Amino acid sequence: MYKYIIYLFISLISVNIAYSDEGMWIPLLLSDRIEDMKSMGLKISAEEIYSINNSSIKDAIVLFGGGCTAEIVSPSGLILTNHHCGYSAIQSHSSIETDYLANGFWAMNKNEELPNPGLKVSILVKMEDVTDYVLKGVNSDLTEYKRNEIIEKNIAVIIKETTDKNHYEARVVPFYYGNQYYLIVSEVFTDIRLVGAPPSSIGKFGGDTDNWVWPRHTGDFSIFRIYADKNNKPAPYSPDNVPYQARKHLKISLKGYDEGDFTFVFGYPGTTNEYAPSYQISMIVFDENPVNIALREKRLNIIDKYMNKNQLTRIQYSAKYANIANYWKKMTGESKGLKATGAIEEKMNLEKQFQQWANTSPERIKKYSGVLPAFEYYYKQINPVNNTFNYFIEAGLGVEVIRFAWNFNSLVEMSKNKNVNDVDISNKVNTLKKSVTVFYKNYNADLDKEIFISLYEDYYKNVEKCYIPDEMAINVKKYRGDFNKWANKIFSESMFLCEKRVIDFLDSYKKNDYKKIEKDPVYKLTKSVYDVYFNKIIVPYKKLSISIDSLQRIYMAGLMEMMPQKQFYPDANSTLRVAYGKVQGFSPADAITYHWHTVLEGIIEKEDSTIYDYRVDDKLKELNSRKDYGPCSDKDGTMHVAFIASNHTTGGNSGSPVLNAYGELIGINFDRCWEGTMSDYYYDISKCRNISVDIRYCLFIIDKYAGAGYLLDEMTIVK
Ligand code: ARG
Ligand code: ASP
Repeated sequence: MYKYIIYLFISLISVNIAYSDEGMWIPLLLSDRIEDMKSMGLKISAEEIYSINNSSIKDAIVLFGGGCTAEIVSPSGLILTNHHCGYSAIQSHSSIETDYLANGFWAMNKNEELPNPGLKVSILVKMEDVTDYVLKGVNSDLTEYKRNEIIEKNIAVIIKETTDKNHYEARVVPFYYGNQYYLIVSEVFTDIRLVGAPPSSIGKFGGDTDNWVWPRHTGDFSIFRIYADKNNKPAPYSPDNVPYQARKHLKISLKGYDEGDFTFVFGYPGTTNEYAPSYQISMIVFDENPVNIALREKRLNIIDKYMNKNQLTRIQYSAKYANIANYWKKMTGESKGLKATGAIEEKMNLEKQFQQWANTSPERIKKYSGVLPAFEYYYKQINPVNNTFNYFIEAGLGVEVIRFAWNFNSLVEMSKNKNVNDVDISNKVNTLKKSVTVFYKNYNADLDKEIFISLYEDYYKNVEKCYIPDEMAINVKKYRGDFNKWANKIFSESMFLCEKRVIDFLDSYKKNDYKKIEKDPVYKLTKSVYDVYFNKIIVPYKKLSISIDSLQRIYMAGLMEMMPQKQFYPDANSTLRVAYGKVQGFSPADAITYHWHTVLEGIIEKEDSTIYDYRVDDKLKELNSRKDYGPCSDKDGTMHVAFIASNHTTGGNSGSPVLNAYGELIGINFDRCWEGTMSDYYYDISKCRNISVDIRYCLFIIDKYAGAGYLLDEMTIVK
C-alpha cells in the first residue's frame, strides 16, 4: 500500500515534468543533457561546448559589463554584443556634435577604437563543484545565522586558495538555493574598446514601442574589442595594450536556418525563480507588479514629454528612459502571462502533491511537511514590508536628485568623525567631484521636479503612515498637501539643483561644512527617506527573507527528492549556462500565428517618420531597394533580420550567441516575446520564445551600410 502510494505520486508527478526545451543548464554537466540535445539535432560533443583542458566554445563566451553576454568572433579579441548592452558606452562618447547614438559609430582602424573606463569583460577559466568544502561543518540543527557564518568562512578560504598565485578572480555561487555551491574562476579584462555601433534607427529600431514584442526588426548589435598587455594578460587601459589573442573564437555561419532547426544559447542568464511557491507568484501578480508598473508609467510619461521637446534631453535621458521602460513593460507582460497560463494554480497543484508526499513517512514529515505552511506565513508577513520597499525604490529613489544627494551622506558621516584625517576627506571630496560631472551631464532639473511632485504624492498617499519619512510628513503639513509648493521651495533652495554651487562647495570644503549639507532641503529629505529604509524596512525585510530563503532551500531539496528521475536545472544566477531549443513560431492568442523570422522589407513596412522609433535611415532604404545583400541574403533571396526560438533565456542573456547544430554563430540573442515574459517564474513552451538578431543582418550592416567590411576579414565566416 505504502509503495503503491509512492508509485502513484511518482506517476502523477512525471506527467507534470515533461517540459521540453525548458532549462538553463550548467555547461560543466552537459553530458547529462547531450543525448537530448542530439535527439533535437545537435551535431557536436559536450566536450566541444565545454572543456577545461582543450579550447572549447565556452572560451569564446564572455560576461559583458555587469549584466550582459558577448562572444569573441576573431582571433584578435573582437566581441559582439547587443546595441542595448553597449548603449551606455556609446552614449558616454556622444554629444550634440558627435551623436553616436543617432548616427552610429565605426572605427575604421584600431587607432580609432574608443576606450570605456569602467567597462569589464570576464572570461570563464573554469567552474567546479565545491559543495562539500562549502558545507563543511554545516548541519541541519544550526540556526540560519550560524550556517551562513560557517559558509562564508569556508568560501573565503576557497577563494583565497584559488586566487593566491595568479591573476584570476574567483567567486563561489550558491546553486539550487544553497543545496550546491560552485567555484567560478574568471579572467577579468578592463581595457574594452568600442569598435562599432549602428545608428539607433537600426540598433534600436522599434525602440520601446517594439521592446519585448514580436514581430521585431531591431539590428540590436554593437562591436567591441578586448585589449590586454603584451603578455595577453588583463591590464588597465593603456595606449600600449594590444588586442587580446583569443583562445577560441566563434565561427559565423552564413547558412541561415529553417523552422524546426536546433539552436542553443550560451550565456550569462541573471535571475530566475522557477521553483518559487504560489505565494510568491501571487504577491508578484497582485501586489508588487501593479505598484511598480504604475509608478514607472508616471515617470516615463514625464520623461517622454521632455525628450520630445528637446534634442539634448533626448540624448541625456534616452538610456535612463530605456532602463525604466524595459522592466515596466516586462512586468506588464509577466503579470499577464502568469495569469493567462494559470501559473498560480499550477504551482498550487504541485504544492498539493508535495504536501501529500511530505506526509508519507515520519522522516519526510520532520523535514518537509512544515515547509508550505511556513511559506504561507512568511509571505503574509513580508508582503506589506515588500510593498513599502517597492515605494522606497520606485518612488522615493525615483527622483534623481534624491539618489544623487545620498552620495554626500558618507562625506557627512566622515566629517563628523573626530579621528578622520584630512587626506581621507580630500579623497572623498575628489571622488564626489567626479560623480558631480557625470550626474549633471545628464540631468534636467525641471523634469526631475515634475517627477518628484508626481511620485512623492503617490508615496505619501499609498504608504502606511508609520513608513512615511519625517521630512515628508512635516512638509506635507506645512504646505497643506500642496506638493507643487513644496517642490518649488526645495528645488529653488537646494544646492543640489545647481552644478556650480556643488562644485564650489566641494572646492572649498572644510570638515565643518558637513553642517551645510545637513541643512540642505534636498539632503534633509534624502536622509529622511533613507532613515525609514534603514530603520524600518531593511531589518524586517532581511529577517523575513532569510527565513524564506531557508525554506526555499528545503523546498528545493524536497522537490528533488520527490522527483528523483527528473533532471532539475538550477535557477539562473549570472553564471554561464546553456539553453537549447528550436527555431519556431507560435500562437500568442486566438487566431494569431507568429512567423519564425522577419525580413528587411518589414522595416520598410513599419516606417513612419512621425514616430521616433520607426524612422528608417535613407541609406538602409537604398540598400534594400537595390536588394544588395551580397552573401548575407537567405537562400530565399530575402534579408532576414530577426528570428524566434524556444531557448529558455532571461535578462543577462542579452548579447548571447545563438548557435546552430555545429556550434556556429547564427544570431545574437536580445529579447523575449512579451507573451512569454513570465518565463522567469513559469516557463510555457507554447508561449515562450527568445528573440535574436540574424547574424547575417549584422554582417550586412557592418559591410554594406557602414563600409567597415575590414572587420569581416578578421572573422571566420563559413558558407
Ligand atoms: N527587453 C530587452 C532586455 O530586457 C531589451 C532592452 C533594451 N531595449 C529597450 N528598448 N529598452 O534587455
Ligand atoms: N533583453 C534581456 C537582456 O538584456 C534579455 C531577456 O530578458 O530576454 O538580457
